[in-house]
Amino acid sequence: MKPLRLVTALLACMLTTVRADPPDAAAGRQLLDEHCYACHGDEVYTRPDRRFNTRSSLATQVQRCQLAQNLQWFDEDVENVTEYLSDRFYHFGK
Ligand code: HEC
Repeated sequence: MKPLRLVTALLACMLTTVRADPPDAAAGRQLLDEHCYACHGDEVYTRPDRRFNTRSSLATQVQRCQLAQNLQWFDEDVENVTEYLSDRFYHFGK
């Protein structure tokens, strides 16, 4: 492939990624139900001294916890679960 074509292909690919669909909280809930109750329940999201107070730090923790189980989630999965947790427990808004 010629370098210019490669660059064009890469750009197209990046644009597609940026234009991702909005997060899907229902899909996030399903993932949470399936994978996230082995070590803790919902109480860690609702306890008074919970640790995460921004959406992005919450997403980082979701990422850590899925890595701890080697679930190999896509960024989209992490986003969907973060969306669900935010809607239901943390109320960070959009
Ligand atoms: C291997 C065990 C384990 C699994 C499985 C696990 N977690 Fe965790 N999680 C932890 C531990 C340990 C903490 C820290 C608890 C504490 O601080 O008391 C934690 C805390 C959290 C917190 C922080 C709550 C807060 O605000 O203080 C979030 C959010 C979270 N987990 C999300 C998830 C999600 C989403 C999944 C499913 C992918 C998941 N966890 C599965 C071990 C796990």
